[in-house]
Amino acid sequence: MRPIQVFDDKMEGSKAIARHIAHLVKRRREEHKPVVLGLATGSTPIGVYEELVRIHKNEGLSFDHVVTFNLDEYYPMRPSSQQSYSWFMHHHLFNHIDVPAQNIHIPDGALAKNHIPAFCRGYEAAIKNAGGIDLQLLGIGRTGHIGFNEPPVSADSITRLVSLHPITIEDAARDFGGISFTPTEAITMGISMIMQAREIVIAGWGPNKAAIIKKAIEANIDEQIPASYLQTHPSVKWVLDKEAAAELSEMTVHTDA
Ligand code: F6R
Repeated sequence: MRPIQVFDDKMEGSKAIARHIAHLVKRRREEHKPVVLGLATGSTPIGVYEELVRIHKNEGLSFDHVVTFNLDEYYPMRPSSQQSYSWFMHHHLFNHIDVPAQNIHIPDGALAKNHIPAFCRGYEAAIKNAGGIDLQLLGIGRTGHIGFNEPPVSADSITRLVSLHPITIEDAARDFGGISFTPTEAITMGISMIMQAREIVIAGWGPNKAAIIKKAIEANIDEQIPASYLQTHPSVKWVLDKEAAAELSEMTVHTDA
């Protein structure tokens, strides 16, 4: 995949990402090796998961050697709640493929607050024990967040409890039936763990993301634009639809694509 790929629509972009992931999963299986995927939630990856489920069902791709680590979870949040990212992942992906339950890792939004730091240290240790993340899938928030690393955030931030930005709360409020029911905190992997992934694929669809995507790719690296840290990653691919890419300068698209 090239560093910036622009597709006519999100369906095409999602299929390209799914094929790329499927290829890695297949290759590792042939090598009899596990593969560690860092996964995102939200509206952006839904089409990717749909296509991976289709490839599993129609083409027989097995995920039984796949280990997954999700980026984040709202806090407080019971995993069984339909608004949890745990529920989201099972509904859109895990319930439909053969990934072993013990290989699935999602931050626990039901912990007592004083247990969160130790949980976060354990989460990072589990990623390292699994061999590190081979491929990290990301979306981008309108604040420029990746995971729930809201601005300002430092490059060495670790997995931790964070406060959500008011814009992020506003965007999430649709799923919670209003701002007053929306969590204001989350547990998220930090920038430092995201940047350690061997490969990063970040997707963006629709006009609402165009302005922040331009900043993340074309502005200087800045703690106020968390996704701008990706500029220093050796293997990052932006997969965009035309609307999300609309504000990129011609130079960026043509130089990189
Ligand atoms: C979700 C996550 C977030 C989302 C971002 C975009 O696990 O880490 O960074 O990727 O908020 O959300 P959507 O895709 O709903 O626009």
